Amino acid sequence: MTKPIYLVAGARPNFIKLAPLVWVLQSRQSLPFQIVHTGQHYDRAMSQSFFDVLNIPEPEINLEVGSGTQSFQTARILERFDGLLNDAPPGAVVVFGDVNSTLACSLAAAKRQIRVVHVEAGLRSFDRSMPEEINRLVTDALSDLLLVSENSGMLHLQREGIPAEKVRLVGNIMIDSLVRMLPKALERQSALHLGVEPGNYALLTLHRPSNVDDPARLSRLLNLFADLSQKIPFVFPVHPRTKKQIESIGYTPSANLHMVEPVDYLDSLCLQKQSKLVLTDSGGIQEETSCLGIPCLTLRQNTERPVTVELGTSTIVGNDENLIRTTFEQVLSGQYKQGQPIPLWDGHTAERVADSLENLMLQGL
Ligand code: UD1
Repeated sequence: MTKPIYLVAGARPNFIKLAPLVWVLQSRQSLPFQIVHTGQHYDRAMSQSFFDVLNIPEPEINLEVGSGTQSFQTARILERFDGLLNDAPPGAVVVFGDVNSTLACSLAAAKRQIRVVHVEAGLRSFDRSMPEEINRLVTDALSDLLLVSENSGMLHLQREGIPAEKVRLVGNIMIDSLVRMLPKALERQSALHLGVEPGNYALLTLHRPSNVDDPARLSRLLNLFADLSQKIPFVFPVHPRTKKQIESIGYTPSANLHMVEPVDYLDSLCLQKQSKLVLTDSGGIQEETSCLGIPCLTLRQNTERPVTVELGTSTIVGNDENLIRTTFEQVLSGQYKQGQPIPLWDGHTAERVADSLENLMLQGL
């Protein structure tokens, strides 16, 4: 019997990337697969709600690793996934994105000489203070098939000496989820439910260690957003990591900065699409806003997704108060760039991923 492929997901953004491949493999019935959840994210709002709205089956296997420091969490996934590979070796392991689960599972598979396929390969921020950059570098070095979302990734992998026959430009699989789910998302009318007027609010998300772990920096940012929210209300779904930090600094929310629980995927899409602008440090939201044509102020010093700045609607503003204020004003006064379509972000990436997987599994390419 053919061994199944393991599709590995652990953290919130992984689930949105996994779903389109599951839909395609289910309809083609060409390759058997099993979903492995590492348990990196475990709150209902961070995990199960995504399986529900994306209509993907419950993971057959959950490693239930939970939270911990970067290395602790990585080590725990490595140990538990290695046990699984020992007991039930798959035909290949597919990993997504750049989270700790991506790194740990690709490492465990490579050590057992099981083929690794990386979806969203080649992205580089060139900032090794980001845990994700380390995860991307190691995963790509270990992968047998590297599936790339934007052209910058092709250039990086070529420069790093990865043989061209291992690499394919397939586009952005997360956009497949967006294309399929947007009509349903818009039915949610999420803005109205949260008491803000569609088209007339800012959506804020913040969870990177570089923005939230230092109490002084987090306070400065929250005070700035409270000030900007006098011009247009803010909706701020708060990530659990950020919530803990906000509680520990004793911040009192201001009236126009609406802090809410993390939202599910449909509300996230709807809130982005109906907003005037988005302020975020999320990589995925930079990509989604570019597709949706919504201005995005990226609260980071760099991005591993430069096409969202070059063609899309994103501007890197870091945590520079003046730059955030001037770019914010540009949006409100209608002077902000429009953005253009991004090649291969067309809603059909999962089909190209499945084609590449079939070639690898059936013909060894
Ligand atoms: C992880 C990813 C990041 C991704 C983000 C999306 C890494 C290195 N980082 O960051 O790339 O953008 O997911 O959310 O893999 N927590 C809960 N409940 C949960 C999950 C987390 O309370 O379901 C809390 C825990 O206190 C945990 C903290 O959030 O320590 C951070 O979670 P973790 O998975 O370590 O990283 P994220 O910041 O979510």
